[in-house]
Amino acid sequence: SMRNELDRLVDTVPETLGRKAFVAEMQSFFHIYNRYVTEKAKGHSDLIWEKVSSPATDQIIPYAQLPHSSDSSTLKKLAVLKVNGGLGTSMGMNGAKSALEVKNNLSFLDLTIQQIEHLNATNHADVPLLLMTSFKTYDDTLRVVRKYANTAVKITTFNQSRYPRIYQDSLLPCAENVGDDTSAWYPPGHGDIYNALIRSGILDKLLAEGKEYLFVSNSDNLGAAVDLNILQHMVDTNSEFVMEVTDRTKTDIKGGTLIDYDGAIRLLEIAQVPPEHAEEFKSVRKFKIFNTNNLWINLPALKRVMTTEGMELDIIANTKVTGDARSVIQLETAAGAAIKHFKNAHGVNVPRSRFLPAKNCSDLLLIKSDIYSVKHGQLLMSENRIFGTVPVIKLGDHFKNIHQFQKRFKQIPQIIELDHLTVSGDVYFGRDVVLRGTVIIVANEGQHIEIPDGCTLENRLVSGNLNI
Ligand code: UTP
Repeated sequence: SMRNELDRLVDTVPETLGRKAFVAEMQSFFHIYNRYVTEKAKGHSDLIWEKVSSPATDQIIPYAQLPHSSDSSTLKKLAVLKVNGGLGTSMGMNGAKSALEVKNNLSFLDLTIQQIEHLNATNHADVPLLLMTSFKTYDDTLRVVRKYANTAVKITTFNQSRYPRIYQDSLLPCAENVGDDTSAWYPPGHGDIYNALIRSGILDKLLAEGKEYLFVSNSDNLGAAVDLNILQHMVDTNSEFVMEVTDRTKTDIKGGTLIDYDGAIRLLEIAQVPPEHAEEFKSVRKFKIFNTNNLWINLPALKRVMTTEGMELDIIANTKVTGDARSVIQLETAAGAAIKHFKNAHGVNVPRSRFLPAKNCSDLLLIKSDIYSVKHGQLLMSENRIFGTVPVIKLGDHFKNIHQFQKRFKQIPQIIELDHLTVSGDVYFGRDVVLRGTVIIVANEGQHIEIPDGCTLENRLVSGNLNI
């Protein structure tokens, strides 16, 4: 049974090497595992689709309606946390996405630190930065953070849990030994933040330092700067949890939505939706907004939920196929799902500029391009960009992996006047390439296209063997 397997795993940990911490980790894993097995036996989760409805107007407040605040005194009670443990699998990565260089040879992490430095300098504040890493991203993160040992920003790095992947057929762990290959283990989603904050002692430490608010966001979201209006709104409304949401467009497929469930607010992820309602879930009309994962959490309330009420987050069972073609399952949770446990919790609908992630290499191209410049670690859309909208970029499978992306762009093209770019097949870009209007480049099977140095493409369809 799973119990025996976990006991066996515990036996493989040398006493001296943190056996106690490992046992605690396996206990939380066992808890979520049991919940999963129970749900599986029932054939469904507890979600009853008929109870799902669009959130009420007072559950989602437009950002523009928040009173303006320039009162920075509350910053003494604030800490900022970046969830930074993800594997970036959609970009074929195996380390911290946040350590990737984005602008001026600086990584997401460097830019985040600049944002906090600027926040502190302009407000005479001392907001600390916390980085939640995983066993997969810790080294990369430390390499960047080390450079800042002598700067004013206080940075704390702590690890989230490491859970064993399980085989789909047997529901038993892939790992046989604590030291087994890393592919037998995974970081169980950003919902793990709450366990990790407790287990690392960081939540207690923050409370002891007088911190009352925590601003959480994804480490690749450079749009998630500290916002005094939202912080003040949280204080004024006595809200224990605020989720920043933003208007969903047709291309936003990832990300959960806020729903009204029996009069209470909840996060709903596609993984929880019964297949027959998947289309309805994706419809922008019924579910207009999605979770940016910018979350504002009241820390005393978090402590209360964790110690006296219990935090139970919806399980996201993520199935993957391993190298040896066996299906494995990762049981994960999402941080935003915690919203249901807090008082006066609600969404604030923020401008899209607060959500600028690099989910894939098309996003990365956009962020790295001349559409954005950087100021104090924040991305600013170029004034030369007409209408303030970003181009639609669709890079094909050849650009999916970050290493392929880096190889295929000798230099990032100028795209300030681009509306739409589709690239498909085996395509390479030279230096000083300019793309304008709608550009479609298609190399069919067996073909190879190289856009030469200095080439300008304007409203062009390039296909077959290139002849510019
Ligand atoms: P996502 O789940 O969107 O994944 O993480 P990702 O890391 O961007 O990439 P894929 O899906 O593997 O391709 C959103 C944020 O949550 C963090 C990530 O580092 C990212 O900042 N995260 C994710 C964690 O901190 N821990 C996890 O276990 C998973």
